[in-house]
Amino acid sequence: MKTVVIYGQNHKGSTYHIAHDLALKTGGEITEFFLPKDFGEFCLGCTQCFTEDEARCPHYSRLSPITKAIDEADVIILASPVYVFHATGAMKALLDHYGYRWMAHRPEEGMFKKQGVCITTAAGAGMKSTVKDMADSLFYWGVGRIYTFGMGVAATSYEGISEKKIKAINSKTDSIANRIRKNHGRVKPGFKTKAFFSIMHLLQKNGWNKKDVDYWKEKGWTEKKRPWK
Ligand SMILES: Cc1cc2nc3c(=O)[nH]c(=O)nc-3n(C[C@H](O)[C@H](O)[C@H](O)COP(=O)(O)O)c2cc1C
Repeated sequence: MKTVVIYGQNHKGSTYHIAHDLALKTGGEITEFFLPKDFGEFCLGCTQCFTEDEARCPHYSRLSPITKAIDEADVIILASPVYVFHATGAMKALLDHYGYRWMAHRPEEGMFKKQGVCITTAAGAGMKSTVKDMADSLFYWGVGRIYTFGMGVAATSYEGISEKKIKAINSKTDSIANRIRKNHGRVKPGFKTKAFFSIMHLLQKNGWNKKDVDYWKEKGWTEKKRPWK
């Protein structure tokens, strides 16, 4: 099993320790990226990825090690601390670069069989909106099964987290790791993903963006073929 972990921060604090520990518990090969150290570009809004080709993105080559790791992974872990109720700017800047991969455009076929996890920690509040910032991308990329874990750690460092909370964190990461291992190799997307894909299939039949329409036709998705079958 291959796992990619993308951290929305450079430092190894609470969020890092929880996400890294989950990756270890899940087992297999782990590839990690720290943002903005490993990718710190902002989307320039040229829209070339949508209308022409993702390779036309000015940041394409700098982004490609992360893209390759995402595509090769069985499990994608996105982890970010809560910064003013949301994921870090670095995480958002990365995810903006994958807008062209949303189901409304050109989802990667392999996504529908992958598992994804979104992890966040806060001092006390904002976990729900932060997890959603990351889970929205995983869902609209088509990731077949998504787990989320947000924890108010009441601390500004991993060492400052109480023993009781560490116990609760361990029990949650144990449970997610067990579910990931159990579902490995037999992931199928749920009703919500399939329903959204079906709506996109109807829209792409008479779509407005040639690049997307051609992609869907080529995949056979405007007809009966589906990426999870
Ligand atoms: C810029 C900034 C903004 C933050 N905003 C929030 C917030 O909105 N709500 C909250 O509960 N904690 C907030 N915090 C605290 C962190 O989310 C919290 O300490 C978190 O566990 C840090 O994770 P880390 O150790 O991985 O950096 C903020 C911290 C920083 C540096």
